[in-house]
Parts: sequence; C-alpha cells; structure tokens
Amino acid sequence: MNSLYLLEPEVVSPDTEITALIPILSEREVAYVMPPGGSMPIGAVYKAFLPFTPGFRSEATNHGTKAEELMTPWEDIPFLNLETHLHDAIRIFQDRDLQELPVIENGRLVGSLPLRSILTAMTKALSSMENQEKHEKRSSVILQSINEGLIMIDKDLIIREYNRAAEELLGAKASERLGSRAVVVSRDESPVFEVMKTGKPRFNVMSPLADGRIFSVNYVPMLENGKVGGVIQTFRDITGQEEMRAQLLSSRDELDRAFALTLPNSRVEHKLKNTPEYRDSHDPDSGDITITEVITDGGYKHVVNALKVLADLNNKGIMSLLGISKDVLVQSIIFHDLGKSQPQFEIGQTVDPLDEFEESHAHALRSADIAAHFYNRDDDVIWLIKHHHHDETQLPCDFPNHLKPMLRLLKLIDGLSAALTRRDATIRLDVDGTRVYVYERNVHPDFNKSRVVDLFTGEILEYLPTP
Ligand SMILES: [Fe+2]
Ligand SMILES: [Fe+2]
Repeated sequence: MNSLYLLEPEVVSPDTEITALIPILSEREVAYVMPPGGSMPIGAVYKAFLPFTPGFRSEATNHGTKAEELMTPWEDIPFLNLETHLHDAIRIFQDRDLQELPVIENGRLVGSLPLRSILTAMTKALSSMENQEKHEKRSSVILQSINEGLIMIDKDLIIREYNRAAEELLGAKASERLGSRAVVVSRDESPVFEVMKTGKPRFNVMSPLADGRIFSVNYVPMLENGKVGGVIQTFRDITGQEEMRAQLLSSRDELDRAFALTLPNSRVEHKLKNTPEYRDSHDPDSGDITITEVITDGGYKHVVNALKVLADLNNKGIMSLLGISKDVLVQSIIFHDLGKSQPQFEIGQTVDPLDEFEESHAHALRSADIAAHFYNRDDDVIWLIKHHHHDETQLPCDFPNHLKPMLRLLKLIDGLSAALTRRDATIRLDVDGTRVYVYERNVHPDFNKSRVVDLFTGEILEYLPTP
C-alpha cells in the first residue's frame, strides 16, 4: 500500500472527556485511544458508532464520559500494515463497514487508512485503465485503417497483430493467423531473422512472392528494455509499379537502340559511350573540384540530352525561324564533342580543373576535323562544331554570319544538356519569335537562374528564377 494514502492518526488518551472528543470527531472519522507512553492503541472511538443525539451529548457531558468508555476495544478492530494490498483493505472495509482502519508497522501505530483514499486510488486506476483501453482501441482503429499490410510477430515468431490490409494482401483471416507461427511467403530468405538478431530496421526490401507478386516490405524491431522482443512488418504490393518500371526501362532501351541507329556507325557510338563525364563539388576559394560521381557513358548521355532539348524546342516552333536547320543542328550535336579527350578521375579525387581538363577549343577543333574528314559533314556543321566553345568576340572574321543564330542555339543546347547530364537541373523552355526563354533550376548557384536569348541579336538577358 502506498503510504501517501495514509492519514496521520488522531490519538487521544483513555481519559479524554467527551467534550474534548467531539471537536476532534467533527473533523476525523476515528480517534485512537492510546495509554500515555504507549505505542499501540487499546481501542478507537469511531464517530459512526456514537449516537450523536442531543440527549446523548448532554448526558455524556454531565456524566464526564471518557474515551475509554466510548471506544471499540482494540481486539475488535482489524488493522493493516504497509504490505497489505489495497484489494485486501477494500475487503475489510466491506466486511466491517468502517470509514478508517489503523495501520501498524513494527508494533507501532503509523497511520490511518481512510476509505476515501482507497476510492480515490481505485478511481485513478480505473481511469488510467480506461485511457489505456481507449489508447489501445485508437491504435487498433489506426492499424486496421491503414492500407499497408501489418503483421507483428514476437521473438518466437508467433503472430500478435494482423491487420485488415494484411488479410487482403495475403488472403488469410486474422482470426486464423493470430497466435500461430509466422510462415515465410517470400521466395528469398526473410530479413526478419536478421532484424531480430541485430535490432536494426530494414526498409523497402523487395520481396518476390511465390505467386509472382512483388511486395515492398519494412522490418522494424520492437525493442523492450534494449532487447528485440519482436518485429513489425509492414508491406504493400508493388507488382504494378515494378511492371511499369520494367516497361519504362525497356522502352528507354528501345529508344536508346533507335537513337544508336541514327549514329553514323558503331565507332561513334563506342566513343560516346566511353567518354566519361563527372559530377563534382566546387570549392570557390581554391577553384578546385572534388569528383562526386563518374558517369562512364557521359558523352553519350550528353548527346541524348542535347537532342531531347532540341526536340523540345522543335515542338515549340524553333525550326520555323529563318536560318535554323534541324539537320545541321542534329549533326552538330552528334559530332560536337566526339574529339573530346577526358582525364580519368575517381570519386573523391580533388583536382584543379584548369590543369586537368583540356582547353575546350582543342576538342572543338578536333571534333570538327573528325566530322569533316571521316564523315564528310556539311561545311555549316563543321563551322558550328569548330566554334561551339567560342565567345562571339573570339569568332574569326570569316565566320559565316548566317550561322550565328544556329551557333547561339547550339551553345545554349550544349549548356542545357550539360546541366541535365551533370547537375540534375530542371529546365523549362519557351520560344517566342527569335527569343528562347530558359527557366533553369539548378543546385549550382551560378546556373540557378532564368534567361532569355535572342538568337538573331545574340542579346542575353538574365534574371532570377521565378518561383
Ligand atoms: Fe564541347
Ligand atoms: Fe558538349
């Protein structure tokens, strides 16, 4: 019993007269009668047992009735100790119809337990049980309403929870499964054993089922005092998503193969597929870059992305502009970086790009030579490739004026493709007459801006990204 429930006992001597007892009993249910110097009462005066009629009061007062004459003798009073359970105390209160019971510890009266303390304690316990029940009910409603299947198993693999979605996904009733041993439905070894052993969760584990479906499963350990007491598995059917992903991959492969057919020959394809591009982080103070990812077929992806940008611009009407030729641009895109010689880097390597990368004009010149001498491309294509890294002020005097709009467009497409290939940029394009509007979102602050390029005048206007 919690000693917080106890009251300090009200103690009177055996010869305390009724006139002194009445004020005490007006506030307390019981006064314990203790002989002077004693540690154990000889009896107790219970308010409930006194006939508080006016006649009794005046007679007892006149008579000078004392506590020992009014008390119930100790032998007739049940007592408790601090170890007595509340339930046993309640039973005694029920049997004896008393409002307060003495509590004895080591041969001493240490307190008095009032019935109302027990009622308060019981009410609290009941209300917390109610709360617990409510909480459990709420948890159960949540468990049953989620669309993910949920199975909770204990450390002996016995199923303790099995929600509605699990019933639907696995085709078995919770009533059949609860309390039984879990069976592994995946074709692969279940990570449940690993999670049980390590206490570390596993998320999004792809589990092919024997019936051909694919589930994505999370395994989360239930820790009790630092030990794994079971595992919660939540799962959903991702068969449809996986089929769609496979279809997308296969159509991307088909597109890839179709694009490869447009290349002049397999040597061009091989060169592009073996020219790496790098993702990097840039240190503005030193100018150094640190390689974060190697895109082994970066040259190929760059060309594909450039053609996609061109296709987008074509849809938006860019080809209706005088001086813009689709064929010349497609050929320029395919060949423009073919002469590129890339250094070999590994992830984590920090380099000074000015030392390591060849100056861009060099590969532009080499690419132009390859396109001219091995593939006999048009002069316009050669001009464009040769100068795709030139500023307009660096162009030779004999650069044909009529090619300037296409050079501007090629340079724009080249930059946008690099952003798509190497920096995961998001790009939106609009065409309005001779102007191309570019809305670019880029993690690199230098490129995270929008701009409008006038292909005829060469004027470029930059502005901050619109939200
Ligand atoms: Fe280039
Ligand atoms: Fe390029």
